[in-house]
Amino acid sequence: MIPNKVAVFRKEHFNAAHRLNNPNWSDEKNERVYGKCNNYNYHGHNYDLIVQVTGEIDPETGYVMDMKVLSDLIKKEVLDKFDHKNLNLDTEEFSNLNPSAENIAIVIYDKLRDKIKTNFDLKIRLYETERNFVEYPIG
Ligand code: NI
Repeated sequence: MIPNKVAVFRKEHFNAAHRLNNPNWSDEKNERVYGKCNNYNYHGHNYDLIVQVTGEIDPETGYVMDMKVLSDLIKKEVLDKFDHKNLNLDTEEFSNLNPSAENIAIVIYDKLRDKIKTNFDLKIRLYETERNFVEYPIG
């Protein structure tokens, strides 16, 4: 039998401030590498988050996953922790981890992976701007 695998997506949004800085580098190098994202007094981004869950359709519900359950999970694990926060100063996750879009995507993945059934695939797409976005895991 061909499995009825479908990908479902939930789009969410959060605003957060950050600063990209490598403490092992000089101020000049940090500014050269990170540009505006190295701004000493932080700056904000309007992040768009797309969570993709892929799995087989449950024949009883017709759903892969109840989107209300997925929405509530993202709210609890991600939005409540990061929305309207300074990621560097207000969160444990980024107190020692540079809050690049790449690292934010991996942190979000790890938070949600634990809470979603293991037979579902999970993928995170995070937009830092309309034109710049990252995806994790790849493939
Ligand atoms: Ni930035």
